[in-house]
Amino acid sequence: MNGNLVSNPNKPRVAVLFGGRSSEHGVSCVTAAGVLGAIDRDKYDVVPIGIAKSGQWVLVNEDLSSMSLAAGAAPEVLASDKTVALAEIGGEHQLIVAAPNEVPVELGTVDVVFPLLHGPFGEDGTIQGLLELSDTRYVGSGVLASAVGMDKHFMKVVFEAAGLKVGPYVAVTDRQWTNDPAAVRAQVEALGFPVFVKPARAGSSMGISKVDSLQELDQAIAQAREHDPKLVIEAGIVGREIECAVLEGRGTDAPRASLPGEIAVATGAHSFYDFEAKYVDNAAALSCPADLPDAAIARVRELASQAFDAVGAEGLSRVDFFYTEDGEFIINEINTMPGFTPKSMYPQMWAASGMNYPDLIDELIALALERKTGLR
Ligand SMILES: Nc1ncnc2c1ncn2[C@@H]1O[C@H](COP(=O)(O)OP(=O)(O)O)[C@@H](O)[C@H]1O
Ligand SMILES: [Mg+2]
Repeated sequence: MNGNLVSNPNKPRVAVLFGGRSSEHGVSCVTAAGVLGAIDRDKYDVVPIGIAKSGQWVLVNEDLSSMSLAAGAAPEVLASDKTVALAEIGGEHQLIVAAPNEVPVELGTVDVVFPLLHGPFGEDGTIQGLLELSDTRYVGSGVLASAVGMDKHFMKVVFEAAGLKVGPYVAVTDRQWTNDPAAVRAQVEALGFPVFVKPARAGSSMGISKVDSLQELDQAIAQAREHDPKLVIEAGIVGREIECAVLEGRGTDAPRASLPGEIAVATGAHSFYDFEAKYVDNAAALSCPADLPDAAIARVRELASQAFDAVGAEGLSRVDFFYTEDGEFIINEINTMPGFTPKSMYPQMWAASGMNYPDLIDELIALALERKTGLR
């Protein structure tokens, strides 16, 4: 046992998990750099754990200053011969480090895990399931909300059932596309062009294309299928992109919704809010609070809280809408682990609503520590 790493009951030990197996690995590293730079070290004992693209958990050093996407090469957690695992030992949740031909070393207990993971195998309920199985507390949504929030098809099913307005779309499974592509093309034509072709379970705009005609459809489908065999194809919606940050309430309080923000993408190089616009070119102007009439602000905050509850989210979620010419909010998606660097929309919206980044991190950890394990 390494004496320096023993958990202190007055100083909860927080394992920050980042990287991961999805195509948003690099984005997750950047988020982790932000959180590790701002988390209160007097209050929490922080252990950063990277997940390599292979899925291996490794201890990483704290210098994450190189973890920026602007530098060109995306940051990456590298595999190591030392694997980190969570194990229940003597009734406590312990971190252990194991290497071939070596006796595993205990690193001490973990009080709460902060999974800063985006995309499949991180934001989709799989890590959450692992943590549930070991009764380990963690920040953010549980298994079901994470899985529904990851799948652009099922989230629409749930939103519609909750009375939220979603745009016209078709879901396309691998079986449908393989067995009857003509039927899929006909369904898409019925939506009218342009359409947005999306992997059902990706993020950061990966694999998404805007398609203006039937001729471009197959290529866009092939591109999206590189990320996911299941797709969602949506009618293009003309509207402003308005987002709202939702934070779970303390105890039995209702969720809290921030002031809404707006994303305006500089037209020209980007026809929509694609990956490059998001992370490389910084081509999108984020403004918060969004310039909206008071009634629309109240309405979108209410809808965002409804969306949070509709999927059974916990901790945090960013809820994204299109605000149409006729003043209607059409829900685009919920993100149960939204971009979380200090400059990301979610923290920015809370900053504009009176909660700064370190306080937000603190609040998320406090929510996770106070919540029950098991069914809740
Ligand atoms: N149906 C749509 N109509 C118009 N624009 C869309 C539509 N769907 C997506 N977009 C554009 O594409 C971006 C990324 O799509 P989104 O569904 O939010 O994917 P991601 O989960 O990767 O963020 C949106 O922010 C928006 O600019
Ligand atoms: Mg989005």
